[in-house]
Amino acid sequence: MSPALHDVPESAAVPTEREMVRIENVSKQFSLRHNRRLKELVFSALQKKKLADTFMALDDVNLTVRAGETVGLIGFNGSGKSTLLKTISGVLFPDTGRVMLRGRVAGLIEVGAGFHPDLSGRENVYLNGAILGMTREQIDAKFDDIVAFSEIEEFIDTDVKYYSSGMFLRLAFSVAVHTEPDIFLVDEILSVGDEPFQAKCLARIRELQEAGRTMVVVSHELDMLERLCTRIVVLRKGKVVFDGEPAEAIRVLRAS
Ligand SMILES: Nc1ncnc2c1ncn2[C@@H]1O[C@H](COP(=O)(O)OP(=O)(O)OP(=O)(O)O)[C@@H](O)[C@H]1O
Ligand SMILES: [Mg+2]
Repeated sequence: MSPALHDVPESAAVPTEREMVRIENVSKQFSLRHNRRLKELVFSALQKKKLADTFMALDDVNLTVRAGETVGLIGFNGSGKSTLLKTISGVLFPDTGRVMLRGRVAGLIEVGAGFHPDLSGRENVYLNGAILGMTREQIDAKFDDIVAFSEIEEFIDTDVKYYSSGMFLRLAFSVAVHTEPDIFLVDEILSVGDEPFQAKCLARIRELQEAGRTMVVVSHELDMLERLCTRIVVLRKGKVVFDGEPAEAIRVLRAS
């Protein structure tokens, strides 16, 4: 049984619920046969070379996220969750449709994105902070907090190529939360962190929630998402198949 698309009823939208993200008819097509490196895709696009055997990673996606909402994004592997987050963050442009944002977006989409392996943790905090839109003075002011949150003080002057994946995550998450974005995107970050750090990240995410920040969170940890999110969107093969109440979204996913 294919569940019906559940729209948030118009009447539920009070005027103060500002739209922070609006995704309209967004589609993104990828090639199956060609080398999937982004560089090559761009290159072939520039050469106007036709890509054979394409498939829709995102297929006419519509989604609105209002201020203060925490929207979960769930779906099986390859259903398009990361691709959708990348179109919101601007890392990826949709082929058709449009993405409108209010405010500044930051977050953890790919651990390691915006980090340079040959630079130290300290240098990467500045590099990553700058990429996420902070000035040097803002980073200076928050540097100690960023390092303290990550709990990797001892290794802050070590090149990040020698970091464990958890250490990498710790620093990246710490920089991202300290940029105070209007829209915070989180993709599967908690999975590599150890239990104490996961708990700390979740506590921080809850603080951001209480401060009224807007979030889109991707995870396979459905129980955690059910507790965290105000709404959950289910993607299947690039299509939104459900958008609404968290427990119902999880039932929809598990039934498919
Ligand atoms: N740059 C790319 N080039 C070609 N195909 C891509 C590219 N990025 C993603 N894809 C494909 O698009 C589809 C959706 O991928 P995406 O990473 O969005 O899935 P996901 O829902 O995040 O999955 P997971 O749960 O495994 O993280 C997959 O089939 C993937 O192989
Ligand atoms: Mg993904």
